[in-house]
Amino acid sequence: MQPFEWSLPTKMMFGPGRIGELGKIAKGFGDKAFVVTFEPIPAANWIIEKALASLHAAGVETVLFDKVEPNPSVKTCDAGTAAFKASGAQLVVAVGGGSVIDAAKYISSVAHSGGSAWDYVVLNTRKPREYTGAYPIIAVPTVSAAGSEVNAGGVITNTETKMKSFSRSPYRIPKVAIIDPELIASVPVATTGDGGVDIFCHLIEHYLSSKDESEIADRLTEGMILALMEYLARVLKDPKDIEARGQIAVCAALGWSGLQALGRLGTIPIHFIEHQLSAYYPLSHGRGMTIILPAYLAHFADALPHRWAKLARRVFNVRDEDDAKAARLLAPSVITWLKSIGMYTTLGDAGIGMENFDRMADDVITMYAGPDGKVPGARPMTKDDILAVLAGSLGPARKAAA
Ligand SMILES: [Fe+2]
Repeated sequence: MQPFEWSLPTKMMFGPGRIGELGKIAKGFGDKAFVVTFEPIPAANWIIEKALASLHAAGVETVLFDKVEPNPSVKTCDAGTAAFKASGAQLVVAVGGGSVIDAAKYISSVAHSGGSAWDYVVLNTRKPREYTGAYPIIAVPTVSAAGSEVNAGGVITNTETKMKSFSRSPYRIPKVAIIDPELIASVPVATTGDGGVDIFCHLIEHYLSSKDESEIADRLTEGMILALMEYLARVLKDPKDIEARGQIAVCAALGWSGLQALGRLGTIPIHFIEHQLSAYYPLSHGRGMTIILPAYLAHFADALPHRWAKLARRVFNVRDEDDAKAARLLAPSVITWLKSIGMYTTLGDAGIGMENFDRMADDVITMYAGPDGKVPGARPMTKDDILAVLAGSLGPARKAAA
C-alpha cells in the first residue's frame, strides 16, 4: 500500500425528503444564493421549485441560473461566472447532475479567482492558472453518477476546439451535499443506466490502473461494485424503488471520493478516452463510458493481468486460476453484465463511425500524455492503443464494414 492522504470535507446529508433542509443549511453561508441548474425540463421543474421553496422559506434570496447543458461548455461556465458576480450572491447552490455541479464549481471558483474557466484545466504541459479560492457550494445531486457532490474535480468542454478537460481544487469541494433519493427517483431509466455504468467505471479506474496492491481499497471497491450491480438491476426494474435509489446515490458519492483509491496510485485512462468521444458527439458521459469500457478492458487485459484477474474473480466469479486467462475473461464478463441490464452499446449503435478517430486520439495524447508522449495507465497508453480501443468499440457491424 502506498502512503496516502484522504479527507471527505463535504458534510453528506442523506435521506428521503431532506431537500426540505436546503434553506436552513444555505442560510448558514449567506442570505443570497446563486442557484445553478439544468436547462428547463418540464418533468423536472418540481425539483427546482422544491429547492427554491426551501431557500425562500428560510429567508434566502435566490438568483436562478438555469442554463447548464449536458457536458457543460466553457461559454456557459463563463456566463455563469459573470452572472454570479453581478448577482451579489454569497454562495452557490447546485441542483442537478454532474454537469450542473461541475459548472457550479467553475462558477464559484473562477468568480473568486478571475479569468476564464478554461485557464484552469489540465492541458498537456501547460501550467494551468491556480485558483485562489471559491465561494461556498451546496450540492444537491439529482442524478447518481459523477460523485461531483463530494469531490474537487470538474470537467468542462471547449466547444471551439472540441476538447474536454478538467481541473481539481480543494477550494471548491462542496461544503454540504444533500442526497435525497426522492429527487433522484424521477430520473429516466436510460439516464439511470448511463449513470450506473459511469459509477462502475469510477470504481474500476484506479483498481485497474495501478499495479500497487491495497487490499483495503480493493475490498471497499469490490463491495461498492457488488452493491451497485445489485441495486442498479433493482432500480432499472422499478425506478421508484427509493431504497435502491439511495444505495446507488451513496455509492456514486463514495465511489469517486478517493475512498476507492486509498493506498494505490493510479489514473483514469478510460475517462481520458471517453472525454474526447463526448466532446465530438452529443453523447452523455455515462453512455460514452458504456461504449468505451468493454474494448478498453479487452485491449489492456495483458497490461496488469493480476489486477484484471482479481476483479474478474472477486466480482464476476471467474474461476480460472491462471491470471492471464482470468484477465481476458473480464471484458466478456462485463459485456454479459451490461447486456443483462440492457446497457450494452457500441459506437455503431450510436451511429458513430471512424471519421474522427485520428483527431480524438491525437487530442487524448495532446491533453493527457506525459513527456514521453504516452498517457499514464495500466501501461503507458499510446495513440495506437487509443485507436485500437476506439476501433474495438465500433461493434460487429461497423467493424465488418471498416
Ligand atoms: Fe465519470
